[in-house]
Amino acid sequence: MSKRARLGRIAAAGLAAILTATTAPLAVLAAEDKAPEAAAPAEAAPAAPAPAAAVPAEEEKVPASVTHQMYLDMKLGKLDIHGDNAVVNALVLQRDIPISYEYIATLMRTPNAFGEGPACIVCHGSNEADKSYRGLDLSSCEGILRGATEEPQRPVIVSGQPEKSLIVKMLRNNRMPLGVSFFEPVQSDSIDKVRAWIEAGAKNDEDFEANVLPLFNDPQAFSGGIQCTECHKSFRDPPSFNEVNLTSYDAIMTGAFSKTRKKQGLPGIPIVVPFDAASSPLFQRLTMNRMPPGVDPGVPVHANTLLLARWIEQGAWCK
Ligand code: HEC
Ligand code: HEC
Repeated sequence: MSKRARLGRIAAAGLAAILTATTAPLAVLAAEDKAPEAAAPAEAAPAAPAPAAAVPAEEEKVPASVTHQMYLDMKLGKLDIHGDNAVVNALVLQRDIPISYEYIATLMRTPNAFGEGPACIVCHGSNEADKSYRGLDLSSCEGILRGATEEPQRPVIVSGQPEKSLIVKMLRNNRMPLGVSFFEPVQSDSIDKVRAWIEAGAKNDEDFEANVLPLFNDPQAFSGGIQCTECHKSFRDPPSFNEVNLTSYDAIMTGAFSKTRKKQGLPGIPIVVPFDAASSPLFQRLTMNRMPPGVDPGVPVHANTLLLARWIEQGAWCK
């Protein structure tokens, strides 16, 4: 396959990843929280309509249990269990079934749980940095809540907020340019320049114009053989993914989804947090690999990732 075809495939797969990873779970989760019964399944299955007379009678019944509710939904043709992740969505997430730590513990111990690869605890089994990558212990609930103990020490869970939790971010495509492999080092001159610029306050100065901005237009700067501006050149998506525009200082500081959010009276989502590279998506996307190592960056999010996200959303309880 030519490089161009490969990148095209990766970009398309990446798009599939966004559709399932970002929009679907998080947006749908939010919508479902507000109105579980109104949440329409994304790909509505052609369900046999219930007999007209039976509909009001069934709807009047107050379900006594989740099983009863499931039967009612089946009769009313409201249950969509077709397609990827649909069963988990319909039977677990929409019904807000509590996710136990016991299940999370099983996932951490199971190979292929979030995509092909060894179990998380093989590489993250203790808080000792000489035995476990990042000194991150995913083998106990306390360890998960403690997070990475090696510098920079940081939590991997933000209770109640899966979209802000590092562990959830790591389970979907992260590395930019889209498709960069795990084995590409997360340290380089280019990455250091971006970090130093943000840490110094992300100013629009000569150093930025001469040494940082050109990197986003250079196919060799961050490996992968494709420049960032190939996919982030305007505020329109398409052609620019997530409405991220890396062609000028002002465009970078405008953030992601600015066009869509402007219509809602909201500012763009910042991709640069001055003085804080670790919290800046622009920097994170250069250094954060998808877990487990080796999973194709384009693989869509796994149903177990949705369940891990729900556990965090429900408070990440250790019971
Ligand atoms: C084969 C070894 C290996 C496996 C298996 C593995 N990881 Fe990792 N993980 C690493 C390495 C190496 C790093 C640090 C380098 C990096 O971030 O790219 C890391 C970093 C992380 C981090 C970032 C922590 C921080 O503060 O930087 C998280 C979170 C993480 N892994 C979660 C997981 C989860 C969840 C699984 C299971 C799905 C998993 N890992 C499986 C090797 C592994
Ligand atoms: C082949 C296309 C492609 C290339 C090249 C590319 N990106 Fe992306 N980028 C995407 C897609 C698709 C997304 C959204 C999906 C995702 O979140 O992974 C994205 C998302 C991002 C985001 C997250 C924006 C947000 O919503 O917070 C940042 C930041 C980003 N890219 C920076 C970069 C940088 C820096 C480079 C160059 C090193 C780069 N991208 C190269 C396709 C690309």
